[in-house]
Amino acid sequence: MTDAGERRNFYGRIRGKTLRASQKDYLAEDLGPLTLRGVTREDNPTRAPLDIGFAEGRPLWLEVGFGGGEHLVHMAAANPQVAIIGAEPFVNGIAMLLGKIRGAGVTNLWLHPGDVRDLFDVLPDACLSKVFLNYPDPWPKARHHRRRFVTREHLLPLARVTAPGSEFRVATDIPDYVRQTLEEVPPAGFDLVRQAGPGEAWEDWLSTRYEQKALREGRAPHYLTFLRR
Ligand SMILES: C[S@@+](CC[C@H](N)C(=O)[O-])C[C@H]1O[C@@H](n2cnc3c(N)ncnc32)[C@H](O)[C@@H]1O
Repeated sequence: MTDAGERRNFYGRIRGKTLRASQKDYLAEDLGPLTLRGVTREDNPTRAPLDIGFAEGRPLWLEVGFGGGEHLVHMAAANPQVAIIGAEPFVNGIAMLLGKIRGAGVTNLWLHPGDVRDLFDVLPDACLSKVFLNYPDPWPKARHHRRRFVTREHLLPLARVTAPGSEFRVATDIPDYVRQTLEEVPPAGFDLVRQAGPGEAWEDWLSTRYEQKALREGRAPHYLTFLRR
């Protein structure tokens, strides 16, 4: 658990292009009911553990930085026997996800519309059994590598909230991100069990917007799978 008073820097984008009227409606109508209570500091200043009763005893999965939400909705629809949380602070991505949730009619998906580190603070120990990190922000400049997700600041809290045997999947198109992932994830408590390249994604993979952009621009996907020790 981090210091309850800690404020974190977030270097990514929170807002993008002007939202369409339909997206504003999704945010106004659907975001509230799908948002987990007790995650933000305002909502839970003492950082008490989150009540995960919403999962109703089902396995609990997490997607970090779901972007436009296509992979998250795909996983929710393909796995109705699990409860799945998505964390993403980018409002335009959240609005896109909400539209997709309406389209797919999934009911096993919950949201933290913010920084996943705030969610890590309050998730109970070992409550997650699968975590997806698809195309995390690359932070290409060497002086920014410490902002990457695959650093102790994120990985140690991730290790605390994942159960032994949990799967942690990382997809990236950046060779230096693969390097840092292979260096930093195992010491945090995860064993590499699979490292794959283009055309060798997971069987249940759904390609994301960012992956499509990377492919158009000639960058190759890498798919890494770890298991929590
Ligand atoms: C390069 S985009 C990839 C989006 C999506 N996963 C895809 O493959 O299309 C990385 C995403 O991670 C999100 N992100 C960055 N830091 C985050 C954090 N601390 N918590 C949750 N999401 C975060 C960003 O807002 C952004 O949408």
